[in-house]
Amino acid sequence: MAEFDVIVIGAGPGGYVSAIRCAQLGLKTACVEGRETLGGTCLNVGCIPSKALLHASHMLHETHENFEKMGLMGAAPKVDWTKMQSYKTDVVGQNTKGIEFLFKKNKITWLKGWGSIPAAGQVKVGDEVHTAKAIVIATGSESSSLPGVTVDEKTVVTSTGALVLPKIPKSMVVIGAGVIGLEMGSVYARLGTEVTVVEYLDAITPGMDGEVQKVFQRLLSRQGLKFIMGAAVQGVKTTKGGNTVTYKLRKDDSEATLEAEVVLVATGRKPYTDGLGLEGLGVEMEKRGQVRIDDHWQTNVKGIYAIGDAVVGPMLAHKAEDEGMAVAAVIAGKHGHVNYGVIPGVIYTAPEVASVGKTEEQLKEEGRAYKVGKFPFMGNARAKAVFQGDGFVKILADKETDRVLGCHIIGPGAGDLIHEVCVAMEFGAAAEDIALTCHAHPTYSEAVREAALACGDGAIHA
Ligand code: NAI
Repeated sequence: MAEFDVIVIGAGPGGYVSAIRCAQLGLKTACVEGRETLGGTCLNVGCIPSKALLHASHMLHETHENFEKMGLMGAAPKVDWTKMQSYKTDVVGQNTKGIEFLFKKNKITWLKGWGSIPAAGQVKVGDEVHTAKAIVIATGSESSSLPGVTVDEKTVVTSTGALVLPKIPKSMVVIGAGVIGLEMGSVYARLGTEVTVVEYLDAITPGMDGEVQKVFQRLLSRQGLKFIMGAAVQGVKTTKGGNTVTYKLRKDDSEATLEAEVVLVATGRKPYTDGLGLEGLGVEMEKRGQVRIDDHWQTNVKGIYAIGDAVVGPMLAHKAEDEGMAVAAVIAGKHGHVNYGVIPGVIYTAPEVASVGKTEEQLKEEGRAYKVGKFPFMGNARAKAVFQGDGFVKILADKETDRVLGCHIIGPGAGDLIHEVCVAMEFGAAAEDIALTCHAHPTYSEAVREAALACGDGAIHA
């Protein structure tokens, strides 16, 4: 048994970042993690390994699509799946070891095992009960289940199983056209799998800007992904020969089936708080299973805080990280800050998709007067030079004040470009502020400036 100022439960991006910040602020900190390695879902079986596969498969796609155009001749490379998997595993290993190093550097105690909270101020790990003045729940989320679908992580998989398939399947049905479905679907499509995405709604990536949704679906279709929209999956039957997916079209209730070697269930995630003992402690929960918190990330039980996917808000690693740093500041008696209006979302397909702030649909619904500045990557010399002319930047600004309200990008480097707009929004900037900022030529970021110019007197290259 040991005494700590803070015990963080969970070492995902929310938890480990929070633990580091707590330690930096002079608090005696421990972090509980039951996995063999630190980093949580994101680092072990989520964001990072998927990015390795997205990168490798994108490189392969480039060799097929664009190499000859640049005078790079020769046979297209063959895929060695085992080697690609070990590249992915290495990337994960380097990062998890990096966090272990940071824990040692910051003198954070890693309590190995699964934690529970027997009483306020206590965390039990294995047979040991440790005490802490503050406890931070950062236990993340798990894949939601779908009625009629039994996940075996072999041929009916979540994102976790999809990252470690023993071979590249001939066919895959992806249930759900959200972020996971499209990222993993495009990996396998580029590797030669016949991918069909079945989506309940009429548009992909729910909540995204409508124009982006349309262009994104068109570009993914061009890459070979097939879409069945407005279709509710009813169940999956697994036999030795493969999987049969049954779905019902919402427009006429007609039923149809699809055969696939592998089925990826990507219909969302839910908070993971099992085994913490929250019910016994009387910790209040939200209707959808999240831990209820106040403005300082504290639950109704004094000294117990919660962050990340376990609480309300977008299930994004960077949102969890921000909350992790903010709650550490609060526990250390400082001011914690998260601007929930400026949290970017990125989909790491090719092209990338990124957004921040309000969508046009949201502004319409709010009855807000706004203007749109849009610029296509076709007008960006750098993008055209490297065959990345698809997509656009769209900036939404207040009609009266010109203040930037949102930005939606589909195109090369979108996930990096969006941050210029995030900073602008954080500072309450007008579109004109972006337009008047000198942008280096030739860069993709000029497309952001051009979209900002289009909010005023007009873009130059459109
Ligand atoms: P999601 O919520 O993004 O999308 C799920 C989709 O499944 C929705 O479009 C929904 O309409 C559809 N769906 C639900 N039931 C269905 C049914 N019976 N038949 C057909 N379609 C159905 O969930 P996803 O993609 O699983 O991601 C989970 C979480 O992980 C999200 O919150 C996401 O933000 C996060 N994530 C973020 C990443 C990133 O930032 N790049 C990468 C991966 C995950």
